Formats: sequence, structure tokens, C-alpha cells
Amino acid sequence: MAIRKITEFPEPVLAKVGEPITEFDESLAELCEDMFATMYDAEGVGLAAPQIGISKRLFVMDCEGLKLIAANPVIVSSEGVQSGHEGCLSVGKVPAVVERPMKARLKAQDVNGNWFEAEAEGYAARCFLHETDHCDGKLFIDRLPKLRREMVIRRFQKEKRWR
Ligand code: NI
Repeated sequence: MAIRKITEFPEPVLAKVGEPITEFDESLAELCEDMFATMYDAEGVGLAAPQIGISKRLFVMDCEGLKLIAANPVIVSSEGVQSGHEGCLSVGKVPAVVERPMKARLKAQDVNGNWFEAEAEGYAARCFLHETDHCDGKLFIDRLPKLRREMVIRRFQKEKRWR
């Protein structure tokens, strides 16, 4: 188990559509262990493979008691609307208000390749949507109006200089 380096905006891997997971083997299980370790170390609630430089459709999350590994995730349905703060480990956790569906149903494969579905509401639904976006090469800032997007980027870059 190892803590990996988190990729940060604007590294190109974060903007790439991830490749599907096709091998459900020991190395995938090890990768997921590393992703959990990296996520917990950074005090995040979700982490997608592109965030450690791997352009694959895979994320892990542990949010509001919902802990799972999602390979090849798809949002099969969503409903309602919520508006709340969201941040990303790849953008220095700078928060911004993002509108998202209130409920979301996720379909994905587990570490052994078995398909499952999971439903979430509120913050955990936000996590499903945010992490699935990562697998599609999309960051939460891409969902912000232009000026607010630039504000988040500027604040992130400024804070990065002081690290
Ligand atoms: Ni993120």
C-alpha cells in the first residue's frame, strides 16, 4: 500500500476521458488500496484514478458511510436538485457552489468485476456525480460559470505558491 501523488489542475490527465477497466486482477486490487490510502491521507471523501495520473474509469469513495470501489461507473438516473459547496483534491479543495441532482443511482463494477447498483442522496450523490465526472475528464470547475471558474483557479494557484 502506498500513498500516491495527487495530480492537480491543469495536468492534462485530468481532462482526458478514462479508458475502461478490463482486467479485474490483483494489480487492480492493489491500485484501489493505494487510492483509498491516498484519499484518506488527503482527507478526501472520493478519489478517481486520473487524480493519481492514471487515465482509467475508476474511483473509490468513503462518504457518509457509503464506502465503495466503482470501475466503469455510469450514472443511470438522477432526480431533483441540490445546491451546495463542492471541492476537489486536484484543485486544492477550494470550495465553490455547484448545482447537482439531489439523488443519483450509480451502476459500476466492483473490484472483482461484478456489476452493482447503488443509490445515494445529498452529499454522497454529489460524490457519485463528481467522481464519475473525473472518469469523463471533467472537473467540478468545468460546471461553474466562467467568472467563478476563474476565481477558483486563481485562488488555487495563489494557495499553491504558499505550500
Ligand atoms: Ni475531484
